[in-house]
Amino acid sequence: MDNGPPPEAVVTLEEITADNLRAVMRLEVKAEQEDYVAPNSVSIAEHCFADEAWMRAIYAEGEPVGFVLLSEKRSAPRYYLWRYMIDGRYQGRGFGARAMQLVIDYVRTLPNATEMYVSYVPAPGGPRDFYAGLGFVDTGVEHEGELEMKLTLD
Ligand SMILES: CC(C)(COP(=O)(O)OP(=O)(O)OC[C@H]1O[C@@H](n2cnc3c(N)ncnc32)[C@H](O)[C@@H]1OP(=O)(O)O)[C@@H](O)C(=O)NCCC(=O)NCCS
Repeated sequence: MDNGPPPEAVVTLEEITADNLRAVMRLEVKAEQEDYVAPNSVSIAEHCFADEAWMRAIYAEGEPVGFVLLSEKRSAPRYYLWRYMIDGRYQGRGFGARAMQLVIDYVRTLPNATEMYVSYVPAPGGPRDFYAGLGFVDTGVEHEGELEMKLTLD
């Protein structure tokens, strides 16, 4: 049985094209995580109508394993991680943390990028501690029931 890419797989961010669209839309979080992030098909559709947004598929060893959507309002500037997920089958292999370093590297290249934001659903087993482990800190701001965190980019 194919268990997918191993933990030591090289992680990359790839453009979403006609060739990988369906594979990215098929990626899913675990059933108990469904309240934490929209389905990728919804996020990709929203990207079509968002003026300033950037999305990529997360790959491990050439296989799609996750998805990222970033809101990048360069004039503000405000860089906000809008959606982030690793397929439930491939979680816990370090892909989420390594792909996030690539996202952070990308944000650093954007105009006047001094910080990056995310907001999360506060729930047991939710992603707060994942973000905290990457250096994000709570800001105390709440958006429609989600709590905001901020990463300072040095
Ligand atoms: C959050 C998520 C992206 C993490 O991806 P992942 O590939 O499983 O994470 P990694 O294997 O890279 O884990 C990195 C570290 O974070 C920790 N971690 C991961 N998910 C965690 C969670 N839910 N709670 C606490 N710690 C977590 C890991 O234990 C690991 O810690 P370590 O470095 O001390 O070993 C993934 O669990 C996911 O897609 N969740 C559902 C969707 C979601 O909540 N998205 C965020 C929306 S704001």
